[in-house]
Amino acid sequence: MKFFIDTANLQQIKEAQDMGILDGVTTNPSLMAKEGITGHDNIIQHYIDICNIVDGDVSAEVIATDFEGIVKEGEALANLHEQIVVKVPMIREGVKAIKYFSDKGIKTNCTLVFSVGQALLAAKAGATYVSPFIGRLDDISSDGLSLITDIRQVYDNYDFDTQILAASIRHTMHVIDCARIGADVMTGPLSSIEGLLKHPLTDSGLEKFLADYRKTNS
Ligand code: G3P
Repeated sequence: MKFFIDTANLQQIKEAQDMGILDGVTTNPSLMAKEGITGHDNIIQHYIDICNIVDGDVSAEVIATDFEGIVKEGEALANLHEQIVVKVPMIREGVKAIKYFSDKGIKTNCTLVFSVGQALLAAKAGATYVSPFIGRLDDISSDGLSLITDIRQVYDNYDFDTQILAASIRHTMHVIDCARIGADVMTGPLSSIEGLLKHPLTDSGLEKFLADYRKTNS
């Protein structure tokens, strides 16, 4: 299972990278805005900065919603750095653009996916990644995790190569449940990754080991 961090915060990206477990980064226009990254040139530079911190794939989202616009923006983003994956929304023009990028060998992440049907279309178009948003489904009392289960089954039925990138992860149990189901990738905040470290028996056990060592070695 690949671990991506879902942020445009360079400090948090560095922290995850320093742990040695980071496989990539996903961003979106809201995450860029949250970090105060505005204006075309600053946004482009920020993508390059992220690519220089991590080794893996970095999703950069297009703003255009028409085919020609998505292709123009996506090609420019893909030319920035070999790690860039063009993030395209699940709309009619987006599906068409994903097919275009796929034929040209440009990696894509189909975003804003909320149904199995949408995930099927993304795979048919040749998306590298599909991003079902599980937290946002949970937010409206729909079961986000069952969407991951259903997409897994459909993709396995037909051996689709598209990787399931569980997105809109909100907490550590989402990460564990996605691993159980067999999502290929999860993207979440740093806190969802750090939560995996925690167990009170680890803390109390380590405290006792160190206390016993100090008692017998002072
Ligand atoms: O990867 C998608 C993600 O950025 C959306 O997360 O928490 O805004 O639903 P959230």
